[in-house]
Amino acid sequence: MKWNPLVAGAALVLSTFAVHAQDALKIAVIAPFSGPFADYGRQIEGGMRAWLQQHGDVIAGRKVVLVSKDTTGPAPEVAKRLAQEAVVRDKVDFLAGFGLTPEALAVAPVATQAKKPMIVMNAASSIVTAKSPYIARVSMTLPQVSAPMGTWAAKNGIRRVFTLVADYAPGHDSEAAFKTTFTAGGGQVIEAVRTPLKNPEFSPFVQRIKDAKPDAVFVFLPAGEQGIAFMKSFQERGLAKAGIRVIATGDLTDDHVLPAMGDAAVGMITTFHYSAAHDSPENRAFLDAYRKATGDQGQPNFMAVGGWDGMAAIAEVVKRLGGQVDGDRAMTVLKGLKLASPRGAITIDPETRDVVQTVYVRRVEKVGGQYRNVEFDRFPDQRDPGR
Ligand code: PHB
Repeated sequence: MKWNPLVAGAALVLSTFAVHAQDALKIAVIAPFSGPFADYGRQIEGGMRAWLQQHGDVIAGRKVVLVSKDTTGPAPEVAKRLAQEAVVRDKVDFLAGFGLTPEALAVAPVATQAKKPMIVMNAASSIVTAKSPYIARVSMTLPQVSAPMGTWAAKNGIRRVFTLVADYAPGHDSEAAFKTTFTAGGGQVIEAVRTPLKNPEFSPFVQRIKDAKPDAVFVFLPAGEQGIAFMKSFQERGLAKAGIRVIATGDLTDDHVLPAMGDAAVGMITTFHYSAAHDSPENRAFLDAYRKATGDQGQPNFMAVGGWDGMAAIAEVVKRLGGQVDGDRAMTVLKGLKLASPRGAITIDPETRDVVQTVYVRRVEKVGGQYRNVEFDRFPDQRDPGR
């Protein structure tokens, strides 16, 4: 056919019109952005924004809009109401975020009813993904990161352990998974305590630990301020001096709060899926993009990585579906999805829709004046042992 500028012009106008006529791709980011867990929302959303800045925010012709919603949590009822509002009023294509397990659990029925893909970027109790066929998790599970610590501790001369966990589903999961592998390796859990999720006061628990004289205390506390408070009490009551070690999931030495713990954290061994000190081109690109997108000069933590990877997963779904997002087809893409994450390669298990990944053993060290979680051993291909 001969080149006809009129037809070509019309085609151009039409295709431009088609792109503009597409609605924005809306993603609800449901997480605490205020209150004691405000950092969860900031990290998750920061990771998503960093991904969009780095890769472009138009996917399959649709401009991505993040609709952030503050649960002020832990507040499951608020999270549920915000998810309903996101579906009915904002007409979002995806439900995303979820820093806290109780909030993810409360939203699961909304995802099922509305057939909306729900991308969990942190909430880490095993049960979460079982609560709706529309959930996929890109973060971790507490048993996945706690079981390797039980194995490692038993192999490394630790015999008697006192466990301390937050008293809600992730803490219960962590306590059980640690105990299973630690006792299988010949270790003994001499006492187990659970601390309130809201406003815990650690001093009396720390005194009990000191009196019990264990080799080590195994700790799971939700990332952030609680870890700082626990370590402060641990120092003040002289447990380190009494020869009691701290072993924990990496929530305790979360890269964003690690500088606030200072020297008290040095030498602490943790198991986890992400460290800001992970040496890979993907991680360097992530750290750089996060700083540029948020202006935060500190270290982003695992929740920011959850936001980044969750955004990558959403982008893959939208691309493969040619911009037409449908809940069931989205889940087909998510099942078995592989991503080159800043933490290393991850896969979404097609059966459970949960993440499969390497769990690293790390030691807190001061490197060039900075506190870092330095990886020195690994447990590859870990799935959630809780399911
Ligand atoms: C959770 O509520 O699932 C949760 C919160 C903070 C963490 C880990 C898990 O650090």
